[in-house]
Amino acid sequence: MSEEIIVAHQTDNISGTIQASGAKNSALKLMTASILGQGKSIIKNVPDISDIHVMSAVLTTIGAKVDRKDHELLIDTSTVDKWETPYNLVSKMRASISVLGPLVGRFGRARVAMPGGCQIGARKIDMHLIGMEQLGVEFTMDHGYLVATTPHGLHAGNIVLEFPSVGATENTMMCATVAPGHTTIDNAACEPEIHDLANFLCEMGAHIKGAGTSSIEIEGVPLSQMHPAEHSTVGDRIEGGTFLVGGALLGGPVTVTGVSPKHLHMPLVKLRQMGCDVDYDDTSITVGRTKPLVATDIQTLPYPGFPTDLQAQFMLLCALAKGNSIVTENVFENRFMFASELMRMGADIVIDDHHAIVHGESHLEGAPVKATDLRAGAALVLAGLEADGKTIIRNIHHIDRGYEDYVGNLRKLGAHVERETLSDEEISALE
Ligand code: UD1
Repeated sequence: MSEEIIVAHQTDNISGTIQASGAKNSALKLMTASILGQGKSIIKNVPDISDIHVMSAVLTTIGAKVDRKDHELLIDTSTVDKWETPYNLVSKMRASISVLGPLVGRFGRARVAMPGGCQIGARKIDMHLIGMEQLGVEFTMDHGYLVATTPHGLHAGNIVLEFPSVGATENTMMCATVAPGHTTIDNAACEPEIHDLANFLCEMGAHIKGAGTSSIEIEGVPLSQMHPAEHSTVGDRIEGGTFLVGGALLGGPVTVTGVSPKHLHMPLVKLRQMGCDVDYDDTSITVGRTKPLVATDIQTLPYPGFPTDLQAQFMLLCALAKGNSIVTENVFENRFMFASELMRMGADIVIDDHHAIVHGESHLEGAPVKATDLRAGAALVLAGLEADGKTIIRNIHHIDRGYEDYVGNLRKLGAHVERETLSDEEISALE
């Protein structure tokens, strides 16, 4: 047995340009939406990451044919003839639950293994179910499987989500696409990935208005009117934002192309507040820094608020900034595992429920650390570039879930970082 790790060495600066990938969180849902198109859809700008491989396996299990050519997926869903997804795949990736809405839309039923909890909180799916119940779907549990049926067929509904959940908005929207009548989803999540998904559904024949705002209106169309389509995935604002944080951390300038600056509005505001130079036009964003970082307070909120998926990366900046920062996590109840790893490297952070009080001007030292989720993992690699000496990051499968060639891209910017394989003995020496 051996383990792949990332080794990050102290690096004076990183600078240059990175082209962001297509958004993982959009591509995954575009893939499941293709079930409603019942034919050969083409999805472009899809990142080559392990979450996408898992979703390809989910689609293959239900009978679809998925072919990848570079960053393009050809998905033939005309052959989909099953509506059950097994636990071994759903347990690998919670986002597998997003097959639920499209399967019910296509077959009037689904049997989907319940996703377990996950390290960043309980991550319930009650709002997905409440939303779809308003559309005529009935749910029962059967030995760890969620069984969805539509004994009286699908119909339109007026749904108000308790919280603007991304997954619940998407599942409900995909199901309502083929539910006869006029459905409204209020308090909907507004993330750019939801807008992207609605665009793809419309290209397939759906009638959806308002996606990207908190009020979505869907005029259900018959399933027979849905057809395959070709679509290019929106740029990954979180991947792009991660590299921009790298520029803020070490000085940059780092330029990211392929992400709309609008989609990173709040993180760019925070970078400016922290003393960074931020420039952008329609196609690129550049972040550099010539002055010391200054503390700021951050609270994560649904879009257009500050994204929880950039919280760890910014906590790293706060740990180095002059002054004390308060980071408040409002989206996931347990997303501060990164803080304990950063404290192992010398950061001074006090966690109080969903607040982290980050005392600045820490001196970071290289240490063996573990990625606790994909964003924490990406942030730990950046921390390793700042820290004295050498940082060994373990559990890097988390990073591979969401960042295509993260190490290669950082190296292009001049970072001293590499992937290595350690033997069992070398791993035990770290413990
Ligand atoms: C998606 C993103 C994830 C991002 C998150 C918030 C994907 C694959 N993942 O996750 O990267 O961090 O949005 O921007 O797109 N909740 C409930 N009941 C539900 C659904 C959600 O209580 O039925 C809670 C969750 O536990 C969490 C909060 O609502 O505390 C937000 O979750 P949600 O917006 O649904 O996130 P995901 O879609 O899982």
